[in-house]
Amino acid sequence: MNKQALTYDDIQLVPSYSNVSSRRNIDLSTPLTKRYGIHIPLVASCMDTVCETEMAIALAEMGGVGCIHRFMGIEHQAAEVKATADAFVSLNLAAVWKLEESAFAIKQIPLIASVGANGDYLERAIELVKAGANIILIDVAHGHHENVKQALQTLRSTLPVHVDLIAGNIASAKAAQDLEAWGADCLRTGVGGGSLCTTRLKTGFGVPNVTCLQEVIAVTSIPVMADGGIRTSGDISKALALGSCSVMLGSLIAGTKEAPGQIIEKTGGLYKRYRGAASLETKSVHGQERRNVEGESTVIPFKGGVKFVVESLLDGVRSALSYGGANNLKEFKPEYVQVTNAGLAEARPHLIF
Ligand code: XMP
Repeated sequence: MNKQALTYDDIQLVPSYSNVSSRRNIDLSTPLTKRYGIHIPLVASCMDTVCETEMAIALAEMGGVGCIHRFMGIEHQAAEVKATADAFVSLNLAAVWKLEESAFAIKQIPLIASVGANGDYLERAIELVKAGANIILIDVAHGHHENVKQALQTLRSTLPVHVDLIAGNIASAKAAQDLEAWGADCLRTGVGGGSLCTTRLKTGFGVPNVTCLQEVIAVTSIPVMADGGIRTSGDISKALALGSCSVMLGSLIAGTKEAPGQIIEKTGGLYKRYRGAASLETKSVHGQERRNVEGESTVIPFKGGVKFVVESLLDGVRSALSYGGANNLKEFKPEYVQVTNAGLAEARPHLIF
């Protein structure tokens, strides 16, 4: 065995001296990529039941960002990107984002769309950028791969200089060093920890999220996006405390009104579908070969508008910064301890009969 690895439930943050006068004044702005920033550290995942135009607009209105997924034809995806870019203009989002006054790296509203690392990825990326995307995310399950190296180098030399590249997913220090050297502007970090992932069961590969983030963050100077397995605002806070610049959300915002898909009514409740990008359902719906399945699909309760969900997550994160004595994410570097199963049980409401 090489070493022990930890995940979010294995640690708790230690409260530190605080002079935060009001949680309302806490600044959650953060780098997203080398050249782009966001006002809140939340990114909607590039999954077909999480982010298309409606979710991308809703997240941007709150100062975050969504990544428009690639499980559709190039023209269709470019139209989703264009509709998002047009909405940014007609909403006058630039004023909401206070671009003129913004400090670090928030000079332009980010608009992310994903591509693969082979097939039509180059043509797709070119069309997405023409439609208004300024960040391309190379959406690959195993990002420490020759195909990603080629894709990064090709996209870097083909796309205009204002376009940043997010690459992943990765789970090791060596992968972080390589992807940074290959031209990535942000590292999407986390393998096999997502709520619907079966990668670890199917292949035995993957690294629990806390250790995964530590390995990557220790060796890189570019922003890290923590992706997969985030279930609560406490998990978001832990990922940020470890040094992630942003977190990518799937299950937490799936099931909202803005997530793609119909509301399903059954047994007296309202639901929406949420499916893994590598699930049998996603592969079947998009006419892909029904092999190499590494994800599940399910229905989750309908949650209403995403604004309410995000606001309550941000309440938790702002509270975390207050416990950590931090007025902004740069200052948020609390110590943490490893907990036992007894500590984990104590952390949850335990007066339940
Ligand atoms: P959460 O936990 O937020 O995770 O729902 C979302 C992330 O999970 C990843 N993802 C997958 N991983 N098989 C996997 O192994 C899949 O089918 C799959 N679909 C999504 C992805 O990184 C996403 O952002």
